[in-house]
Amino acid sequence: MKLSTASVLAALTAQAFAQTNFTGDTLQGYPIIEYLDLADVPANTISRFWISAAEAQGGLPYFLPIFVARGSAGSLESGRRLSLSASIHGDELNGIPVVQRVFAALRDVVSSGNFNGTVIGIPTQNINGNILNQRNFFSSSNNGFFTNLNRVFPGTSIAEGGSIATSYAYTIWNSVWGNASNVDIAVDFHTLSTGSNGPLWCYADYRLDGVQRLAELTEADVIKIDPGEPGSIETTWVDFGVPAITLEIGPAKNWNQTLISRSQEFVWRLLDDLNMLPSNYTAPQEATSIGLENSYRATNFSTSVAERSGWVQMNVVPLQDVEEGQAVGTVYNSWGDVIQNLTAGASGRVLTVRVDAAVEQGAGVLDIVYNATAS
Ligand SMILES: *[C@@H]1O[C@H](CO)[C@@H](O)[C@H](O)[C@H]1NC(C)=O
Ligand SMILES: *[C@@H]1O[C@H](CO)[C@@H](O)[C@H](O)[C@H]1NC(C)=O
Ligand SMILES: *[C@@H]1O[C@H](CO)[C@@H](O)[C@H](O)[C@H]1NC(C)=O
Ligand SMILES: *[C@@H]1O[C@H](CO)[C@@H](O)[C@H](O)[C@H]1NC(C)=O
Ligand SMILES: *[C@@H]1O[C@H](CO)[C@@H](O)[C@H](O)[C@H]1NC(C)=O
Ligand SMILES: *[C@@H]1O[C@H](CO)[C@@H](O)[C@H](O)[C@H]1NC(C)=O
Ligand SMILES: *[C@@H]1O[C@H](CO)[C@@H](O)[C@H](O)[C@H]1NC(C)=O
Ligand SMILES: *[C@@H]1O[C@H](CO)[C@@H](O)[C@H](O)[C@H]1NC(C)=O
Ligand SMILES: [Zn+2]
Repeated sequence: MKLSTASVLAALTAQAFAQTNFTGDTLQGYPIIEYLDLADVPANTISRFWISAAEAQGGLPYFLPIFVARGSAGSLESGRRLSLSASIHGDELNGIPVVQRVFAALRDVVSSGNFNGTVIGIPTQNINGNILNQRNFFSSSNNGFFTNLNRVFPGTSIAEGGSIATSYAYTIWNSVWGNASNVDIAVDFHTLSTGSNGPLWCYADYRLDGVQRLAELTEADVIKIDPGEPGSIETTWVDFGVPAITLEIGPAKNWNQTLISRSQEFVWRLLDDLNMLPSNYTAPQEATSIGLENSYRATNFSTSVAERSGWVQMNVVPLQDVEEGQAVGTVYNSWGDVIQNLTAGASGRVLTVRVDAAVEQGAGVLDIVYNATAS
């Protein structure tokens, strides 16, 4: 079943907010808004806005760039509304060009008047993390601490006792996504954390209708069928009845063109599945897909952990199949003595491999994906 015909619409969330507040300010030529009401955004146009998600100490606003591709006038109501968001973890950068390039490539079809629906894009959700070259969001309170923004959605307003980090998430959730009322389908782009290597893969909570279809359209190397993580963007969408996945695009910090192209191709397949593109439209595909039949699907992770701090050398690579008990790497102390022989905890496919040799006790160095129960 195509996603466009699936029963994907959550019960319409009450519109608790005012219309788009064009504050009258502009930044680098683009309007600053306080709240996004799609009805105020021009049809057949790709618009750019800024929104301040929060204000840092010193009064520095964290302005996030917001793309909105609106199709034909009537398609705001009749078409689907898709959210593409990236880099909620500040060191995870491969999703940024995916969002940027999709909007660049949509320009002609949107201005032709034949685009059916709406796409909202946030290429850089955690600009504080980008500044600090960091996964997490830095708050200066109490001498400073870090918050994982992908655990605090849908956020908390200041009036309800929110902190800078939770009110920042609240602004994205409520003022850009309208508390889910602006969005029918969502993809949140991530990569692995700094220090690991891995392929193109996604987290997908198959319990919600539409998620399996979304995951299969990725044609990713691995689909991790997964119950989700409370407070993550993906799981918050799912909790609100909006089909969503987390797409993990390889390692942190390095734009990998192959994996970026494969992710863009997924977005074209998705736009097509949602009937957003005219039937005579030819997507700018680069044919890098591996084909869904090659996607490895499984429900469980097995993680090998360094028991002592030292220097790790792994001798397996992503997507290699391993057997339980197989030697996968070695941890050395500062003398070069072996302090741990690492083994595979399960038979399955290698998903992520530690490539940063400096390892601390308790840190995961390898994730194998497998089915704990035979199917
Ligand atoms: C719109 O934003 C301006 C500037 O932040 C603010 O002063 C004003 O109260 C807002 N208006 C509404 C209707 O929210
Ligand atoms: C627009 O998309 C909606 C939802 O997928 C679909 O029902 C409708 O037929 C589409 N309209 C056109 C003109 O393609
Ligand atoms: C968001 O929507 C949920 C239910 O859909 C509602 O319980 C909640 O109060 C809304 N949040 C805001 C800030 O309006
Ligand atoms: C990009 O990722 C692919 C697939 O994992 C890998 O084969 C390739 O070597 C990577 N390219 C770079 C430049 O890291
Ligand atoms: C594609 O179809 C639309 C109608 O859906 C038409 O307006 C447009 O001119 C066609 N474009 C091309 C390149 O044929
Ligand atoms: C794991 O189980 C799922 C069903 O939950 C199945 O679709 C998939 O093919 C299985 N994967 C492997 C590697 O056996
Ligand atoms: C495997 O994953 C399933 C589904 O998330 C979970 O219920 C089960 O406890 C996991 N089993 C193991 C051994 O981790
Ligand atoms: C690692 O494996 C080697 C070869 O089997 C063995 O000699 C050594 O004792 C093992 N080291 C540790 C710390 O387990
Ligand atoms: Zn992440």
